[in-house]
Amino acid sequence: MDGPVGPAGESGMRSLASWPDLVDNRAGVSGRHLRELFAGDPGRGEQMVAEAEGLRLDYSKNRIDSETVPRLVALAEDAGLRERTEAMFSGERINVTEGRAVLHTALRAPRGTVIEVAGHDVVADVHEVLDRMASFSDRIRSGDWKGHTGKPIRNVINIGIGGSDLGPVMAYRALRHYSDRDLTVRFVSNVDATDFVEKTHDLDPEETLFVIASKTFTTLETMTNARSAREWSLAALGDHAAVAKHFVAVSTNAEEVAGFGIDTDNMFGFWDWVGGRYSMDSAIGLTTMIAIGPERFAEMLSGFHAIDEHFRTAPYERNLPALMGLLTLWYAEFFGAETVAVLPYEQYLERFPAYLQQLTMESNGKHVRLDGTAVDYATGPIFWGEPGTNGQHSFYQLIHQGTHLIPCDLIFFARGLNPLGDHHDLLVANVFAQAEALAFGKTADEVRAEGVEEHLVPHKTFEGNRPTNVLMAERLDPATLGKLVALYEHSVFTQGTIWGIDSFDQWGVELGKTLAKRIVPELQAREEPELEHDSSTNALIRAYRAGRDRG
Ligand code: F6P
Repeated sequence: MDGPVGPAGESGMRSLASWPDLVDNRAGVSGRHLRELFAGDPGRGEQMVAEAEGLRLDYSKNRIDSETVPRLVALAEDAGLRERTEAMFSGERINVTEGRAVLHTALRAPRGTVIEVAGHDVVADVHEVLDRMASFSDRIRSGDWKGHTGKPIRNVINIGIGGSDLGPVMAYRALRHYSDRDLTVRFVSNVDATDFVEKTHDLDPEETLFVIASKTFTTLETMTNARSAREWSLAALGDHAAVAKHFVAVSTNAEEVAGFGIDTDNMFGFWDWVGGRYSMDSAIGLTTMIAIGPERFAEMLSGFHAIDEHFRTAPYERNLPALMGLLTLWYAEFFGAETVAVLPYEQYLERFPAYLQQLTMESNGKHVRLDGTAVDYATGPIFWGEPGTNGQHSFYQLIHQGTHLIPCDLIFFARGLNPLGDHHDLLVANVFAQAEALAFGKTADEVRAEGVEEHLVPHKTFEGNRPTNVLMAERLDPATLGKLVALYEHSVFTQGTIWGIDSFDQWGVELGKTLAKRIVPELQAREEPELEHDSSTNALIRAYRAGRDRG
């Protein structure tokens, strides 16, 4: 992007009545170091903590003073966060560009709750599907469901992409500790054939079930992989009837599912009011449920629901998702922060940052407001990260001493799932040490006092004043995972509401898809067709065709 997005001037978020107070507060805070803020308020580390549903958020090491949160909360109220939250939870069509309700919270509503869309209770539908998923999962897990040749299923391959992959793969890895270790569970997403070939090369088709997960059932990558999977199965099993035993579908599109050849009795449905990146707790979670079992899956849903209720009802000063969303916005707006690093000190959360990338960036990577006018402020930051402590030996250097301000979320658990010697204490010591170093740094005088030669002093000085959120839970279990995901979902919603954007559409992914569809026949034609792209694209197509055909 070459310059500021949209017209200059004050509009949207910046025109809210509470805005000037926030600008004032930023001016007061900006010159103050976290060292000074902590020294001036000995209770800060205990006061700037919010706890709910077993999650403890320490936000004291943020560049804020005692006035910042109340003013951010005023901004949230002013932007109508309460009203928009109610609109979302009650099924209003708040995804205006697609004309859809946004009801992922209904996916985890307890049985018996009533949430109506166009006069129809969707919670009853949700539980009907969950029950079918549970009985199917039990049949797979117990060996009762037999493949075409009578063997039980030992391998489950989820084929999907985006929200139909990232959630299930993240949840499977996160909850591996609770999974049936006799099952091999894998995920194929990329249209690059290597993904499919590597994930299936050592599997027996007689024992392999494919879960074709696609909301639309038209996604190029998924349907290409699904067709390859069907050929792979039929090549070994030799009979079309085998599809019924080795393929199930998760989709909103029964017609396409039937067209592919999957019996719609073996289809698990969901609805247009579930966005792809908000769907890991819908039928899209079927692979997760097969891996961990229906009871554990239900525990995960209860964790989601607990944070839904917390977000909906807790005052924003003590509301974890709201606080996290507001702080993200604070840094994006007032400190020019373009990224947020999510750093789970938990190996099982290795795919959590990748999952959050779609959740946060597909949701809030928008440059126009709901009414189509351009924003004149930064919206969704780039999310990225890696499990600690690995990241410490890689990119943390830049966070500590580079020129970019990168707010970090450090996530850890009081109890590890694999007790082994003193590993867990060492792991957690690193969380605290990093947050401490980032906040307080090391002054030049402190470096000198260690006897460091003068020419090295600037290199060994840590400026500090780098913000972190430190998030703790007792241990990673299904309910806690649900809480963590819901926490970020509602944080994203908080930001999107204040920015005034539609966090639930994703038009930005469409153009590339359309262009790819046009290019495929140009690559596959026997004779080079007349190419009418720009000169670079034309030359790339020619170079590719020549390179491929030489092989
Ligand atoms: O291309 C983006 C996207 O539409 C995501 O929003 C979605 O999660 C993904 O593609 C997969 O879509 P589907 O589940 O329809 O295959």
